[in-house]
Amino acid sequence: MARHATPHGTRTAGRPVQDVSAARERRRQTRLLRLATGLALVAAFLWARLLSGDPVGMPSMPAVDPLVLMPVLFFAVLLAVLVGSVVVPGRSPHVVYRPEQIDVRMADVKGIGPVVDEVRRSVALFMNSATFRREMGGRPRRGLLFEGAPGTGKTHVAKAMAAEAGVPFLFVSATSFQSMFYGATARRIRSYFKALRAAARAEGGAIGFIEEIDAIATVRGGMSAASTATPRAGTLAATCCGGLVGLPSSATERPAPAGRSAASGSAVSGAVRNVMVSEGVGGVVNELLVQLQSFDTPTGWQRVQGVVIDAANRFLPAQRQIPRPCVEPVDILLIAATNRADSLDPALLRPGRFDRRLVFEAPDKSGRRELVDHFLGRKAHEPVLADDERRDALAGITQGYTPAMIENLLDEALVNAVRRGARAMSWADVEHARLVTEVGLGQPVGYTDHERRLIATHEAGHAVTAWLVAPHRRLEVLSIVKRGGALGMLAHGDREDVYTRSRGELEALMCIAFGGQVAEELFFDDISTGPAGDLSYATNVAAQMVGQAGMSDTLISFSAVQSSAFGDQGLVGRVLADGDGRQMVEALLRSQKERARSLLEDNQHLVVALRDALLERHELIGREITDVLEQADAERSPHAPGGGATLTVDLRRPQSWWSPAQREKPSPNA
Ligand SMILES: Nc1ncnc2c1ncn2[C@@H]1O[C@H](COP(=O)(O)OP(=O)(O)OP(=O)(O)O)[C@@H](O)[C@H]1O
Ligand SMILES: [Mg+2]
Repeated sequence: MARHATPHGTRTAGRPVQDVSAARERRRQTRLLRLATGLALVAAFLWARLLSGDPVGMPSMPAVDPLVLMPVLFFAVLLAVLVGSVVVPGRSPHVVYRPEQIDVRMADVKGIGPVVDEVRRSVALFMNSATFRREMGGRPRRGLLFEGAPGTGKTHVAKAMAAEAGVPFLFVSATSFQSMFYGATARRIRSYFKALRAAARAEGGAIGFIEEIDAIATVRGGMSAASTATPRAGTLAATCCGGLVGLPSSATERPAPAGRSAASGSAVSGAVRNVMVSEGVGGVVNELLVQLQSFDTPTGWQRVQGVVIDAANRFLPAQRQIPRPCVEPVDILLIAATNRADSLDPALLRPGRFDRRLVFEAPDKSGRRELVDHFLGRKAHEPVLADDERRDALAGITQGYTPAMIENLLDEALVNAVRRGARAMSWADVEHARLVTEVGLGQPVGYTDHERRLIATHEAGHAVTAWLVAPHRRLEVLSIVKRGGALGMLAHGDREDVYTRSRGELEALMCIAFGGQVAEELFFDDISTGPAGDLSYATNVAAQMVGQAGMSDTLISFSAVQSSAFGDQGLVGRVLADGDGRQMVEALLRSQKERARSLLEDNQHLVVALRDALLERHELIGREITDVLEQADAERSPHAPGGGATLTVDLRRPQSWWSPAQREKPSPNA
């Protein structure tokens, strides 16, 4: 048979034969042969006894005195409990999934193209590791580390890999290795790797998956964290420069909308950190390091053979020595997933252990569109959601969403549809679901009249500033409904996925943040505690501009300062602790506040229109905000009384309070 090696396996008569499948088939045939031989021997024995006239009968049970039986049984149970209490805590806590039990295939992994390509290459390499090792002299990839925010599809992809490879998938959560008994954690790790080797030997290959590995593999004392294990610019022979620093892109780092009055950002906590391991972190990590190199250890039978051969060799001359059986390495691919690769021990990431690090990120717009198509393919929706334009729009407004978040959004929309008695989701259901998932459920609270007017004016101030200074931004939600800690909010976002920001954009963001406070000053001649969150947001942006991006009068990067023994204050702290830095931040903030003031002074009619709309409807979404602004702008006449003039209106006066009942007779101040 013509055989030749290719990077994708051995070809037999033009058809690629994957090593793992071939090994599995060989083992299956051997197993069948052994079974047939065993059965044939038993059948031959029974026939022989039958033909000789002495057939095998049922053995008679011996008569046992119950007084003897009871104590024997008691001690047998006691012994079983004693042995069990030693053995059970050390058992591997994994669950085995057979390929046919896994309902996810690679075709179900959408929107993360580059990762899927790399994963496919890894599966192809794993399937042909024997060829790669024996004929090409390579060292097969043994470990893959999946790193990424929660819900980016790490477990999903690992399952799809196992189904694609057609081998058993041994799933284990790192936390289930932990035990309160001394030594049990390390024993469970050993048992898991033993089970992995046994499964791989029985099936020709196996894939192991350790979920949230940071629970048992955090950096040991005296080592620096895993980020140092990957080559950095400073460690390379050539000095690298010119890397652009992007905006935070993961779901965990989405900036909160500038208009939120209180810190109410989507708090997705990054990592699952749990280092409560009874033996101490060091012992467990060491066990893991050792086990990651245990794939070439001999089996029990091979060890017995070795002992016998060694004993025989002692009697044989040097030239007649019997060679020990050679150990064939097993084909195992171990995948570990974590949200925090930077906290892992660096020794885990060296080549030969977790060779390859795959970063899972929130998908880009085209990826999100693929995911929207994929999920909507299974969920009932109205025809309007089958429209390409709507689906593109949905992909656009879900910037920073992970696949799990997109799926959850559409499920929430379906729940909304059920609530209103429909059997398919509409666009409004999706919009409403997005509002609830992003900013939370509204809490009906009874504001006083004065507070309601103050909040509406504040939020209208943000929205008008955003509309004027950042026409490239999408105004999404303007609300005076209390959600979490935020009394009201303006949510605004980029129209397209962006990875950098210009100085002008950052200034616009600060200006928008000041819009609320300035509106309060203009209309109430006083300010409230509401803008506290806005000021903190603006200070953060200004500190980044001054201390990180070189956008002010200094080119010094404050983020280059390494943390010291005296504590690290973070970027904002470092910039503000520096006299000049503080002045630059203050100047930036003041200039943007002045800018917001002059804009709002000239456009008070817009603030009034939005404030009134908010007081009437409490919540404006998307086009409803811009419709009010465009209409108010069109209605403005330079000859109208007060048009364009600077006017401070005291809304605390009862007669200026606007309500739907007074619509026909609006207050002269409004
Ligand atoms: N690329 C994708 N294509 C289709 N569906 C996906 C994709 N990624 C994730 N999903 C969906 O999101 C769900 C959650 O994903 P998964 O459990 O893989 O996240 P994870 O990255 O492992 O999160 P964690 O870090 O919290 O363990 C999956 O069950 C699947 O339904
Ligand atoms: Mg997972």
